[in-house]
Amino acid sequence: MSSRPDALIIGGGMITADLILPSLYHLQRTGMIGDIAVCASRSSTLRVLASHAGIRAAFPGSSFRPWPDLGAPGDDAQPLLYRRAIESLRPRQMVVVAVPDHLHHEVVMTALRSDQHVLCVKPLALKHSQAVEIARTAQSRGLFVGVEYHKRWDRRARVARAGYRAGRFGELVMGEAKLIEPYRYRSSNFQSWFTVENTDPFTYIGCHYVDLVRFITGLLPVAVSVVGIRRRFPNGNEGFLWSHARVTWENGALVSVTNGLGYPDQAAGSNDQGLLLYCEGPGAAGMIRHDDHFRGVSYAFTDQPAQGSSFQFTSPDFFQLVPWEGEGLRPIGYGFDSIEAITKSVVCLEETTRALQPAAALEERRRQAALIDEQGIIATPSNSAVNELVVEAGRLSILADGETVRIVSGTEPRVERGQQGGS
Ligand SMILES: NC(=O)c1ccc[n+]([C@@H]2O[C@H](COP(=O)([O-])OP(=O)(O)OC[C@H]3O[C@@H](n4cnc5c(N)ncnc54)[C@H](O)[C@@H]3O)[C@@H](O)[C@H]2O)c1
Repeated sequence: MSSRPDALIIGGGMITADLILPSLYHLQRTGMIGDIAVCASRSSTLRVLASHAGIRAAFPGSSFRPWPDLGAPGDDAQPLLYRRAIESLRPRQMVVVAVPDHLHHEVVMTALRSDQHVLCVKPLALKHSQAVEIARTAQSRGLFVGVEYHKRWDRRARVARAGYRAGRFGELVMGEAKLIEPYRYRSSNFQSWFTVENTDPFTYIGCHYVDLVRFITGLLPVAVSVVGIRRRFPNGNEGFLWSHARVTWENGALVSVTNGLGYPDQAAGSNDQGLLLYCEGPGAAGMIRHDDHFRGVSYAFTDQPAQGSSFQFTSPDFFQLVPWEGEGLRPIGYGFDSIEAITKSVVCLEETTRALQPAAALEERRRQAALIDEQGIIATPSNSAVNELVVEAGRLSILADGETVRIVSGTEPRVERGQQGGS
């Protein structure tokens, strides 16, 4: 039996195919993790994943254990199968949570109660109390939970953080962030869950840039107002398909966050995104501008790609599969770096405590997890719980037509409706 942790991914959709499974296959073939399993609610999802041409070409010979079986008769949804898949693991392996936003809390808690480390896609949960519960449970059991805010691994975010924290930009006063995902997402599996009662564009992707503003500046958000635009998916379900948020920060700074599922499929790039922060210092203004859409690479293809236009702004920064010195292709980019860093933390916690007695091992795992919390580079339930306050406030606000919702700090921070103004 391998001493490396096995990985079980719950959810076999877009983010698993585009980022998580290729990253884990690479970590497996370079010796960091052991077996990989994927659980989805339907076997048809896993058949598509298992036969994904791009993944097969990059990782010849790699495969995952499917839950349910690829040949399972019928295709009825099995929404609770993930519990059996988690129970099948030895203690303290790694469960990767990649299900729709509103299911994260339930799946993460099931994994923790089953003594598993967790990597969870963002947002960790939709309520602050859920993040607190996750943090407490992980701490008491000496388990590590990493939240996959991969933009923190984008080099430009680290450069900006270093400059901001060194005082080189002054203090944030006004800014805007946007992330508009492709229009074609409306025809994807999103139409089954991206509905008004479950989530919205600010919760889904706005949280990346709110996290990034905090990651760079260290400032705390104190109020959120989100207005959403309702549209119908092709299957008739109603979702907020555009959102416009105003986030107020503790120093009075304001940042607009624009999100949507509406970047034209025929346009260059696969989405539109970027960050602009204006700051003030003594006698001068400072500025941070990240064009995360056009990263300096344009390709015109002679054929029509399976997705997107034949003229593309390609990002070599987020995630690509490229030739390397080994077989197939390897993943590069901040998406991979983020998954690698969280997985490495799990491996390190386990490897450095394996020889210890259980009580000492527990104490040591807790100590190491607390250090990662404190360092604040990898997002954890504790050090990024403010994101859950923002998401919770954003959900309340969007369902109340943009009413400002305040974030009240203190030993038990909470969100509060019915207050006017920002800070
Ligand atoms: N940039 C990012 O960081 C990023 C990008 C995309 C998605 N995400 C996050 O990843 C999550 C999934 O998004 P996606 O794009 O893959 O969505 P998707 O709709 O393509 O896939 C969702 C998957 O979850 C599975 N699922 C649903 N309920 C399940 C259950 N009870 N048991 C097992 N599997 C279940 C479905 O089978 C499906 O495979 C969302 O929370 C989203 O916010 C993050």
